[in-house]
Amino acid sequence: MATVTKAPAKKATPKASNDQAEQSNPAVSVQPILNQQKSAPAPLQRFGTVSQRLPIGLEENVRQESVDMLNLLLADTCSLRDMYKKHHWQVVGPTFYQLHLLYDKHYEEQDALIDQIAERIQILGGIAVAMAADIAETTSIPRPPRDREEAPIQVSRLLEAHQIILKNCHEFAKRAADSGDDGTNDLIVSNVMRTNELQVWFVSEHVVDSPLAQAE
Ligand SMILES: [Fe+2]
Repeated sequence: MATVTKAPAKKATPKASNDQAEQSNPAVSVQPILNQQKSAPAPLQRFGTVSQRLPIGLEENVRQESVDMLNLLLADTCSLRDMYKKHHWQVVGPTFYQLHLLYDKHYEEQDALIDQIAERIQILGGIAVAMAADIAETTSIPRPPRDREEAPIQVSRLLEAHQIILKNCHEFAKRAADSGDDGTNDLIVSNVMRTNELQVWFVSEHVVDSPLAQAE
């Protein structure tokens, strides 16, 4: 009778630990290196300069003038956008719901303008201001208090901010047209100016002098 020799049972290999898997796979073993900005070489581009990298048919001085104008418009638009959200949260009174919704709609529309202005700056070879502290240093719109204010005061503040932006739009659009930067002229007139004018209409029509609690 033939003897059947049983093959020794295969020793179960222990499951590789997560640590071992990570060590054997460089894709997951690389650790992010933090604080690289502290020893970084020179930045890719300094703020305030314009690059001629994109071939869009505009001279450096034209790009520089447009970038400077657009950064002012960008900072003011960021301020107005944020003022709309502040007022959206803090509005009070008999027109609460209307203004609450209207302010948020205008916030979204200003936010869309911000992206268009900033991307125009990048197309021109400039660098868009982005962070809150830089916006605060650049904007010409007066800073509202942290306090909660009455609806008529909110409306007044918003209309004043719109007017600052619109006055700049008229000046900047003309300068962009004169220098031959038609794209910037078009952005300012067709988008920024038209949006702000429309919003001024919607906000201004809330300025009514009618008794709400007691008939005259
Ligand atoms: Fe909300």
